Amino acid sequence: MEHNEIVKRMAELKNIIKEHDYFYHVLDNPRISDAAYDAFVQELLSLEKKYPANKSPDSPTEKVGGEALDAFKPVLHKVPLLSLDKAFDTKGLQDFDRRVRKILRESTSLMYVVELKIDGLAVSLTYAEGVLQQGATRGDGLVGEDITQNLRTIRSIPLILKEKVSLEVRGEVFIPRQTFLDLNKRRIEKGETPLANPRNAAAGSLRQLDPSVAASRLLDIHIYGASDFSINLNSHKKLLDYLKELGFKVDNTVKLCQNIEEVIEHCLFWQVKRFDLPYDIDGLVVKVDELDLRNILGSTARSPRWAIAYKFPAETGITKIENITVQVGRTGVITPLAHLQPLQLAGSVIKKATLHNEDYIKDKDIKIGDFCLIHKAGDIIPEIIQVLKEKRIGQEKDFMMPDICPSCGAALHRQESEAARRCINLLCPAQKVECLVHFASRSAMDIEGLGPATVEQLLNSGQVKDLADIYYLTKDGLLSMEHMAAKSAANLLAAIDKSKKQPLSRLLYGFGIRLVGVQTARVLARQYQNLAAISRASSEELSNIPEIGPKIAENVQAFFKQVNVQNIIEKLQRAGVNMKEKQSVAATTTPLAGKIFVLTGTLNKMTRQQATSLIEKAGGNVTAQVSKKTDYLLLGEKGGSKLEKAKKLGIPIITQKDFLDLYRKEM
Ligand code: IVH
Repeated sequence: MEHNEIVKRMAELKNIIKEHDYFYHVLDNPRISDAAYDAFVQELLSLEKKYPANKSPDSPTEKVGGEALDAFKPVLHKVPLLSLDKAFDTKGLQDFDRRVRKILRESTSLMYVVELKIDGLAVSLTYAEGVLQQGATRGDGLVGEDITQNLRTIRSIPLILKEKVSLEVRGEVFIPRQTFLDLNKRRIEKGETPLANPRNAAAGSLRQLDPSVAASRLLDIHIYGASDFSINLNSHKKLLDYLKELGFKVDNTVKLCQNIEEVIEHCLFWQVKRFDLPYDIDGLVVKVDELDLRNILGSTARSPRWAIAYKFPAETGITKIENITVQVGRTGVITPLAHLQPLQLAGSVIKKATLHNEDYIKDKDIKIGDFCLIHKAGDIIPEIIQVLKEKRIGQEKDFMMPDICPSCGAALHRQESEAARRCINLLCPAQKVECLVHFASRSAMDIEGLGPATVEQLLNSGQVKDLADIYYLTKDGLLSMEHMAAKSAANLLAAIDKSKKQPLSRLLYGFGIRLVGVQTARVLARQYQNLAAISRASSEELSNIPEIGPKIAENVQAFFKQVNVQNIIEKLQRAGVNMKEKQSVAATTTPLAGKIFVLTGTLNKMTRQQATSLIEKAGGNVTAQVSKKTDYLLLGEKGGSKLEKAKKLGIPIITQKDFLDLYRKEM
């Protein structure tokens, strides 16, 4: 082909693919087969490979996934992404309507828009002149993470709009139910733990640093709002129609209601019909339609007064407790577990429910053979609400907590202050499985493919005795195990290798030291920068860190004092596992680094927690009292004695707006 013919064909392919992306992903109405579509993509990919200089920056092949990142950049949202107040029943909706009317003092021409509330992940997308610039997670509402690369891979997110407009849109990224079920089926086949729910699956995919792993084809989005747009509109419904015209995918059940009665009718309709949808919803969102009225209603720091989420009541079901067994956790805690007659509830089959501890069983008077009422707490975790005593036939049996560990046979201990019994045998195999699974888990070293089934086999076959042995596994060793194919073995080894680069905070969390959660691990890593320094620290020194209490300090120090822990660390080091924390750029270079802030007055542009986290991200600290050491007083509305004191000491006082401007400049 001649050069200009190649250029022409590439442009043509680009347009064909984009058009079909739109038919398929936005209109849900494909015009060609998947195979025909893939052939176009393959043709374009191979031309781009051959002639990289002619690749257009908005090529649809970008949706296949680009370079992997080290970490996500923080993004300060121009307009905060607020959350929603909730109504749990129709009375909650009526109360909302009353509040709105009271503020507006007029009962005429108020209309509501009702949208489905998908339980996914909120994101913001910024476009300039019709071109996607940036995509970010909601984060804490004020600061999110730059996940542009991953969002680009979602087919229903247009890279170029149908008009050259600049705006920011918000929406919910989700994974359709069937895709989620298929994904979990594959995970189970590979011996991995299934993901708890579609929301977690979507969040997990979006937070992958390598966009080709972002399981991109699996995700979808509904756009539900916009900010920072110049078109003159006074209706949310019209805005949604406009967004649809621009090429965005918008929920097609959106309904404009004349009054709250109509809203309630619509909510109750979807409460029943929700399982006909191809994705999970956890309620509906009711919004005042007129944008002018929204301005009058305004927002609190957390949520707008012009909208409310109607949450479906948790579904309940009745089933039988067939047996009660006990499980051994990572820290040796013994938890009783009810095995239930399988029951379909709110989109999944429930077979087990935790019974927490023996006091819980006693309080609820639970017996083996009982029928019980079940719901999903927070729509996720199955929980027994109550036992149906009227259904008893006299053959139900009391459950006795064992005195010895079901895994290793060691005697169990129950401390007076604790409800739980524990196995305190450090060599207990069940605890080992849990420890290793925790070490490999997503918030720790994030080793995909190292779930309970694989860990158990590795321990049983003697290939792994402690967590450092993970880094000495060989392909031959792995292949000697059941259900381990060459490809899975190679994937696992690659995932293990990749985890060596994880920052210190994750390694530390992965150790599973009691009371050291993700946040505490980050604090310690940030403070000490390397593992050797933490392991040398005395408990007194540790407890001088503001976030570290004496109990945590003691646990950390006791953990590192153990000889076997030192051996494990040495083995990890030899394997090349990273033991340093990457210092955030902010912590050393920004003008806020090391600065001490005090917050006072009512903050209304952000919550105190958000302000604190912004300051910490920029390398500063927040303390409670004004002193000579204070660098800035961040003043909300109506400061009291702290303001007086700061004035007296001549400490610079900054407003919320100045603070946000300062922060924006720094990032
Ligand atoms: S409006 C200022 N509309 O629900 C209004 N939110 O707590 C903020 N969500 O994580 C959001 N569907 O992402 C809105 N149709 C919808 C929504 C929706 C789901 C999520 C949102 C946020 C949470 C609000």
